Amino acid sequence: MVCLGNICRSPLAEGIFRKIAKEQGLKAEVDSAGTSAYHEGERPDSRSQQVAIKYGIDISNQRARRFTKSDFDSFDKIYVMDRYNYEDVVVLADTPEEEQKVDLIMNALHPGGNRAVPDPYYDGHDGFEHVFKLLEDSCEIIVEEMLGQKQGN
Ligand code: 4NP
Repeated sequence: MVCLGNICRSPLAEGIFRKIAKEQGLKAEVDSAGTSAYHEGERPDSRSQQVAIKYGIDISNQRARRFTKSDFDSFDKIYVMDRYNYEDVVVLADTPEEEQKVDLIMNALHPGGNRAVPDPYYDGHDGFEHVFKLLEDSCEIIVEEMLGQKQGN
């Protein structure tokens, strides 16, 4: 799960995905990162922590880190939040296979729509609530799809 700062959107995506995967019985390793190092080492934004807690998810132990090329080796899928993240990640890919690992997370909800999860950094709490809902809907579909692939459905 990748955004710009790794303090607002992608920490929520990581926490939400982990919770849904656990509930649905999907074994998956999930992590998050930012395309920038602006907030390296920081905990998630307090507004992300608050909206997560409201829905029963504790993301306070996460620490921001920057996306690196080695993430292409570590992960099968790389979900980005907007087209800027997409461009910043794809430019680091060495092969078409690596490039194909990258997708906008909202394409799970609206295939081919290339919609963004809006950056809530300069918004109030409503923006974070909206982001939470978008990520929850997207992660539910991704977990279902991954479970289906494992069962050969
Ligand atoms: P995120 O939000 O990419 O969802 O973590 C942002 C966090 C920090 C900044 C921008 C977006 N910033 O400019 O510092």
